[in-house]
Amino acid sequence: KGEQSLLSEKKERFSSSGFIFAAIGSSVGLGNMWKFPYITGENGGAAFFLLFIVCLVLVGLPVLLAELAIGRSGRGSAATSFTRAGGGKGWKAAGILQVLAPFLILSFYIIVAGWTLNYALISFNGQLFNNSDYAGEFGSFISGYAPIVWQGVAMLITAGVVILGVSGGIEKFNKVLIPGLVVLLIVLMIRAVTLPGASEGVSFFLKPDFSVLTAESALVALGHAFFSLSLGMGILLTYGSYVDKRQSLGTAAFAIGGGDLLYALIAGLIIFPTTFSFGIAPDQGPSLIFIALPAAFSAMPFGGFFGGLFFILLAIAALTSAVSLLEVPVSFAMERWNWSRQRSVWILSLVCFLLGIPSALSLGMFPELTFGGKALFDWMDFITSNIMLPLGGLLITVFAGYFWKGAAEAAGLTSRWFRIWLFMLRYVAPVLVFLVLLHTSGIISF
Ligand code: PFF
Repeated sequence: KGEQSLLSEKKERFSSSGFIFAAIGSSVGLGNMWKFPYITGENGGAAFFLLFIVCLVLVGLPVLLAELAIGRSGRGSAATSFTRAGGGKGWKAAGILQVLAPFLILSFYIIVAGWTLNYALISFNGQLFNNSDYAGEFGSFISGYAPIVWQGVAMLITAGVVILGVSGGIEKFNKVLIPGLVVLLIVLMIRAVTLPGASEGVSFFLKPDFSVLTAESALVALGHAFFSLSLGMGILLTYGSYVDKRQSLGTAAFAIGGGDLLYALIAGLIIFPTTFSFGIAPDQGPSLIFIALPAAFSAMPFGGFFGGLFFILLAIAALTSAVSLLEVPVSFAMERWNWSRQRSVWILSLVCFLLGIPSALSLGMFPELTFGGKALFDWMDFITSNIMLPLGGLLITVFAGYFWKGAAEAAGLTSRWFRIWLFMLRYVAPVLVFLVLLHTSGIISF
């Protein structure tokens, strides 16, 4: 016990606003820009967006609050958070899952972060717009060595931030970049909604047609709420462990959820008006932002400039999330092996970079790295996002809802809010998250 309180005194801390910026930085990422628009496009637009909001509020926020509260009361790494918060030995494995998952995610997430850095550069210098074969351009980029170089650059930036520590690195980085991101978003949104024919895109995104919704879209929306809030991945457990005792976690959860939602809204108001204005289908899958959008930017005045801004924005969003993904295993290594922060960052970044190389190559130079019709890259995404993430989320809800004696005190809610929260954690979230798990793992389909 004495040892534990000594440890928690030594532990690094966020400032109150720094924590909110860092958590928003983690949640706002490639998910909002790269995944959200095309899954919204595939699932019928506005009605899907509303469903996403419902999932965010009813399931996302309660789980978000649970993660922060468990993290703060355990004050350890994600691996030990359940046991430190009073869970028995059986919860150890659940903790390990919460460290392994972000590490695996980072290995392929950083590859896409690297693509965005490359695309920012080639938009500004005009190379992207030299010829109009954007699919060819993307194909030749990912089949060379360049993606690995950019993957390394993105990893180095991430490592450079995390090495400076919680308040000196992660907090400062987010405090500068998140407001910068807001400015870029607003500039691009104004550009997008004033394009000729933009209103069609706006109404696709904001005028709901509920007849297009299926049970499947509901599960996709819930899965995305998890991905987008960075839940089930040890991140908020880890960030929670750096939060001051006096901070209201309920307020923080609303601020983070609100920030993420606003960002998704603005992202939609950039992507849909732009694609509709240039006659591009918004449901093209993951290549939408690297192939379809450059075509749209090239057709608008000062397209190189706006395209460059767009990819810079994407790079910022990706890097602030990558930082949070790396902090989880770093915090674990410091606790478990007593490594210094520096040593943890260098070793883990290097291993993660090397681990990612086969995934990067599987999309280009080595298509042989494809198993059962899925490239290694897509397998990594599938296993982490579709299996480990909902499983991690399920464990959080079950722990907080049924096994955690300190929940009331740790969450610091009024008794009425506490009852609502507990109800969601016990009866609503686990059932829905379990259905998501069955669906994304392919066990049930509609
Ligand atoms: N929330 C971020 C995004 O939407 O891109 C990053 C992220 C972190 C995604 C953790 C998934 C995850 F498990």
